[in-house]
Amino acid sequence: MHTFEDTACRPLKAEEFAKIRRLAYDTFGLDLRSGKETLVSTRLNKKIRELGFRSFEEYYQHVVGDSTGESLIQLIDALTTNHTSFFREPAHFEFLRRAFWPECGGRGAIDIWSAACSTGEEPYTIAMCALEDLGAIAPGKVRILATDISTRVLGKAEQGIYASDRVDGIPGTKLRKYWLRGEGDWAGHYRAKKEVRALIEFQRLNLMETLPAIGPFPLIFCRNVMIYFDKPTQQRVVQRLAAKLEPGGYLLTGHSESLTGIAHELEYVQPAVYRKASSDGRKRAKW
Ligand SMILES: C[S@@+](CC[C@H](N)C(=O)[O-])C[C@H]1O[C@@H](n2cnc3c(N)ncnc32)[C@H](O)[C@@H]1O
Repeated sequence: MHTFEDTACRPLKAEEFAKIRRLAYDTFGLDLRSGKETLVSTRLNKKIRELGFRSFEEYYQHVVGDSTGESLIQLIDALTTNHTSFFREPAHFEFLRRAFWPECGGRGAIDIWSAACSTGEEPYTIAMCALEDLGAIAPGKVRILATDISTRVLGKAEQGIYASDRVDGIPGTKLRKYWLRGEGDWAGHYRAKKEVRALIEFQRLNLMETLPAIGPFPLIFCRNVMIYFDKPTQQRVVQRLAAKLEPGGYLLTGHSESLTGIAHELEYVQPAVYRKASSDGRKRAKW
């Protein structure tokens, strides 16, 4: 008779943690520092149980052997947090209103990239701001590319449906103007109106890989994802993002993410706002 050790419910061994740490770092730049063993163990054990594997090794071999890359994405999903909210870090949306849109005055198109959009609250907030601040010209002008590594969060983002406790951060006037309230089976939920959804295109993108032919953008949001990366990885990601900015374009980071100690070509504008030099080398006035 064969017996199996039920390894799915025990803490990871040091060498197993090391394997996951290396895999997460090499493929996603995720920095699982020591001290995170318990968190990683708990999350992976849950994943291993859900998927019906009998051991860590069996699961690990499945992940590295999956040529579609989907298992890797699910692994990263289990290890990172997708926490986000509407109008998170409101200073950035104030920056849009007071500085960014006015500077875009003469432009035909305004392409914005939300580079780790999670379940969509960030790009929907940008879309609401565009419609609110620019009015009738927004639909023909503003396009938001919203990307994330996780297909799970992107699926949710694309639906644009949120439970009522998730839309708390949206001011009442904007909620009424840009959202539909669900009825029947959808009671207690809101869905972004078509005009808001029409501004956004969702795509899967891993910031650790060579970036596809997108941009250059006058504005990139890359907020609350670099906290997962160690300094060398942060530096590579910031340099990659800077290459996708047009001259004079802005990079917005999370307010707890500083670019201090990272070599980059961007100039500091205000907390969590950086700018690429404009082509004539002129610095623009701070607002
Ligand atoms: C905490 S959420 C931030 C969401 C939003 N930007 C905000 O500030 O509210 C971080 C997101 O980064 C994504 N992520 C993690 N590693 C990534 C990578 N290498 N490339 C692209 N997205 C990644 C995660 O899937 C997650 O949805």
